[in-house]
Amino acid sequence: MAAQESTRAGSGPAASTTPMIEIVDLHKTFGETKVLTGINLKVPAGSTCVILGGSGSGKTVLMKHMIGLLKPDSGKVIIDGEDIVPMSVRGLQQVRNKFGMVFQAAALFDSMTVFENVAFPLREHTKDSEDVIHQKVRARLDLMGLKPAVEDKFPADLSGGMRKRVGLARATILGPKIVLYDEPTTGLDPITTDYVDDMILAAQKGLGVTSVVISHDIASAFNVADQIAFLSKGVIVENGPPDQVRESQHPAVKVFLQTWFGKN
Ligand SMILES: Nc1ncnc2c1ncn2[C@@H]1O[C@H](COP(=O)(O)OP(=O)(O)O)[C@@H](O)[C@H]1O
Ligand SMILES: [Mg+2]
Repeated sequence: MAAQESTRAGSGPAASTTPMIEIVDLHKTFGETKVLTGINLKVPAGSTCVILGGSGSGKTVLMKHMIGLLKPDSGKVIIDGEDIVPMSVRGLQQVRNKFGMVFQAAALFDSMTVFENVAFPLREHTKDSEDVIHQKVRARLDLMGLKPAVEDKFPADLSGGMRKRVGLARATILGPKIVLYDEPTTGLDPITTDYVDDMILAAQKGLGVTSVVISHDIASAFNVADQIAFLSKGVIVENGPPDQVRESQHPAVKVFLQTWFGKN
């Protein structure tokens, strides 16, 4: 399987061939606009899949199907062995507990300290004691490379990259099996982008999570991916380990990669 053959930093011993996410012949139309026209994708448990594609190609729409925020016109969305498409709101709620999400805006609570932000899901969803909450928050911030002194700061006092890491600490504090990232490096400078890449790798290696990352940042994609899926005109036109995608002969992929290599 692609994820195991890859020599990328993102491939770890945790990667297996059992798909955590499987999309089967997914179609989605909004009014006259056919956005997805037959998506097939498997993401093995414990691996990182990056979805590349131009702006407006349907990357966010695809990700929203993975967590049941959108229903397809047809097709299957199998999460951890269960097709979530026919599920009720209540059933979906159970499935969503398997997910952590880091969307473009890090969406921390501005009036809460870092500690309270990361502790929030534990207070909402567990009966953990204060001692346990402190231990868990500290351990998770440590995994994200954040020092204990950061705990008492407010989001406004942090750099963009640190906010992203706090966001991931909060998104993973309940121990999700899957983490979705929608453009986690958009608007960040190159050094901060490296931190975010490290954090995605830390979540995979340290927590064994399955990750799906939407990106239009090719350097970042090649850093973190076990598998890259390229979305164009409603379908995945290339899918495989980064080295395979780099050599792709598909015109849309070639143009996309050339644009980036031309700029750097
Ligand atoms: N809720 C919606 N209603 C109608 N059109 C939508 C909706 N969400 C997305 N679209 C359209 O679907 C296409 C893909 O959008 P999106 O998935 O956000 O692209 P991107 O690849 O940039 O994330 C766009 O043409 C967008 O306008
Ligand atoms: Mg998007």
